[in-house]
Amino acid sequence: MFRSLSILLRPILALGAVLPLLPDASAQTRPSAPPPTVYVRAGHLFDATSDQLRDNVVLVVEGERIAKVAPAGQVAIPAGATVVDLSKAWVLPGLIDCHTHLRARADKYDPINQVKSTPFQLGFNGVVNASKTLQAGFTSVRDVGSEPFFAVDLRRAIDEGFIPGPRIVASGPAIGITGGHGDMNGFAPPVQNMLYPAERDYAIADGPEEVRHQVREQIKYGVDVIKIMATGGVLSQGDKPGAEQLTYEEMKMAVDEAHRTGRKVAAHAHGTEGIKDAVRAGVDSIEHGSLIDAEGIQMMKARGTYLVADIYNDDYILGTAIEFGLPKENQEKEKLVGRLQRENFAKAVAAGVKIAFGTDAGVYPHGDNAKQFHYMVKFGMTPAGAIRAATSSAADLIDRSKDVGTLEAGKYADLIAVTANPLDKVEVLEHVSFVMKGGKVYKDETAAAKPVL
Ligand code: ARG
Repeated sequence: MFRSLSILLRPILALGAVLPLLPDASAQTRPSAPPPTVYVRAGHLFDATSDQLRDNVVLVVEGERIAKVAPAGQVAIPAGATVVDLSKAWVLPGLIDCHTHLRARADKYDPINQVKSTPFQLGFNGVVNASKTLQAGFTSVRDVGSEPFFAVDLRRAIDEGFIPGPRIVASGPAIGITGGHGDMNGFAPPVQNMLYPAERDYAIADGPEEVRHQVREQIKYGVDVIKIMATGGVLSQGDKPGAEQLTYEEMKMAVDEAHRTGRKVAAHAHGTEGIKDAVRAGVDSIEHGSLIDAEGIQMMKARGTYLVADIYNDDYILGTAIEFGLPKENQEKEKLVGRLQRENFAKAVAAGVKIAFGTDAGVYPHGDNAKQFHYMVKFGMTPAGAIRAATSSAADLIDRSKDVGTLEAGKYADLIAVTANPLDKVEVLEHVSFVMKGGKVYKDETAAAKPVL
């Protein structure tokens, strides 16, 4: 029945595909207005093409993109032009968080909540969290591991201009094994079936063929990136962060299928061997990376695999999350990985592994993303290096370098400003006072802002 319906619909769908090519009479008679030009005066500019600051620069923004970046003396600003005066501020590219969960709230830690949430509630969370993220200066995120295609829908609503939020590189639900991180564990089958009907298991896969199917299904629904679970996790029930979950063959299948369509693969991996198998399988980033060893570090460096380590998380998980009901099991697991993750991050940085900024926002409250910069510097990065991890390098990892990540002609006008020098004290990024995305101003507290020192 459905099959015959789709056969009937096929010619209509095909027609839909050519319609946009037909001439639009109104567009032909009405010449389109030139995009409005905005001149942004930047007192100090960190454009993320190098580790240096430039003083007294003007960015010429035409429509949603940057047309020119030049020393103020070389730009004649016409009388009456629209000027954004950030001449007392430090201007940077909009920040990028490569590991968020926009559907999640950080004030409920009872695992049962996961199955109690309706799609509507997740949607409400997403609207609020997207706005908080943008207000915090994050103009792009990669949302990894999201209840069925939630992030794809949110991405569309934001791109349509219906909801304020960051640009989203969206994954579907993370693909993992039965009983692993990402599955709903610990319930007897009849209870499980009531709580978590099979149709919510969008990403449980055992064996390469099931992985292939899940990856293809996700691509069919419009994901930009594939997330897989290489090892156990901290906040799941009944598994171990150090233990390998998807096998090498399963991960290789995910990578081959995703790469064939130009999509990247992010692998959740805390455990030593799982990290290495994921890297061998060709994933583009290791998320968490907590128990990586010297060999794993060398492998990542040799292959150019990014490390996305959520090294602020531990503070929140062993603090406020406990007040919100985090079970003992998860507290104990966090104690096993938290400190080691930071120490191993420092080793990876020292060895020259590529680092991209990613925080696991949703585990802690959205909007606090920039709190991680402090730890990235404490554990071995320079402030400029940490900022580039959240701008130029992050853009490279999420495959958006032609649009975002640096402030150069041709890129989207995604920029933020702070009132003190982030190269002296990276924590100033926790207090972003100006946010522009695609040439549109979403936040401007520069007049009210007191210098943060
Ligand atoms: N989502 C991750 C997990 O459950 C969070 C890990 C947080 N802990 C940390 N030290 N980064 O495994």
